Amino acid sequence: MRRLFMLTRERLRTGRRARILSSIPWSMPVLFFATAYIIAFSLIAWLYGTHSISIGVAFLIYYYTQQLSQPIMMISNQLDDFQKASAGIVRVQELMGTQSELTDGEGIPLPEGPLSVDFKQVDFGYGEEEMVLQDVSFHLKPGEVLGLLGRTGSGKTTITRLLFRLYDPAAGKVELGGVDVAHAHLSDLRRHIGIVTQDVQLFHATVRDNLTLFDNSIDDAHIERALQQLGLTDWFHKLADGLDTMLAANGGGLSAGEAQLLAFTRVFLHNPGLIILDEASSRLDPATEQLIERAVDTLLSGRTGIIIAHRLGTVKRADTILIMDSGHIAEYGEREALQMDSHSQFARLLLTAHEAEVLA
Ligand SMILES: Nc1ncnc2c1ncn2[C@@H]1O[C@H](COP(=O)(O)OP(=O)(O)OP(=O)(O)O)[C@@H](O)[C@H]1O
Ligand SMILES: [Mg+2]
Repeated sequence: MRRLFMLTRERLRTGRRARILSSIPWSMPVLFFATAYIIAFSLIAWLYGTHSISIGVAFLIYYYTQQLSQPIMMISNQLDDFQKASAGIVRVQELMGTQSELTDGEGIPLPEGPLSVDFKQVDFGYGEEEMVLQDVSFHLKPGEVLGLLGRTGSGKTTITRLLFRLYDPAAGKVELGGVDVAHAHLSDLRRHIGIVTQDVQLFHATVRDNLTLFDNSIDDAHIERALQQLGLTDWFHKLADGLDTMLAANGGGLSAGEAQLLAFTRVFLHNPGLIILDEASSRLDPATEQLIERAVDTLLSGRTGIIIAHRLGTVKRADTILIMDSGHIAEYGEREALQMDSHSQFARLLLTAHEAEVLA
């Protein structure tokens, strides 16, 4: 009760001050006009009383006073806007002053080429209480492809976020190419990882700028070469203005599959040593699916890959399979061995997925 009382009193004080401050721009013109009318009517009364002016001039004095009202109201409104804007600037400054909880590593360089990936007894939770990942350990050799499966909310995307170091694990270690990700420079780490997320972020800009992420040092020849290697040249040439086609923000103008193709090219241009592919779960038309299949093959050749797969076609590419179940590893092993073992969860998943595909 005491704390509530103190807080309420504080709130009253702050609220009162805010009210008074915000009423100034509003009450100024009202006061101004009250004064102006008093002066105008006194003047009229005096001048008319001494017969110096006619009734017409008396009306004009009143009329001109009234004419002032609109511009003064506008100035007052603008003062109001200015107050709001300065409050906004304070908020923006606070936001800009926010420090990331992650501290940049001391800069142990990551090796070039395909990278190994190690999770060592990793625990992680977004909040303090609930752990989203518990005791997750796995190892990927350079060039190996891991298929990550599991129900929605089981922690698949979270695993990729830890690799990209958007968060630090609560316990355990994440290593990339034998280097603890906490010890590498963030910029170096992120240069070595190519990530295609479930929802691709597009900018209101040309296809070229969307591919290079506004990096002018990448020339068109380089982009064309990447498109050709990914087998996407024809698809890009079908766009209205080629590389100059304008895209709308938030996925406008491209289908989910097309946005993924664009994201593949984006990643391919940076030539990372590890590719993380968080597949969109939406169904794709067969033509786009074929394009994606081919592009993924090119993308993964000579690189380590982690694929969060929603489609059978993508799972077939994996060397090892990891199935997550509410933050725990439910199954982990070589794909072929798991496929043979009819008791494995993976074999059962394949069976149901296959049935679903045949039925569709
Ligand atoms: N930014 C966040 N803040 C708090 N909790 C989160 C956040 N992102 C995810 N979670 C929680 O963490 C758990 C794992 O989420 P995650 O995104 O890793 O699932 P997923 O396996 O990728 O699911 P999907 O197959 O739907 O993509 C979920 O319970 C989710 O509610
Ligand atoms: Mg996800």
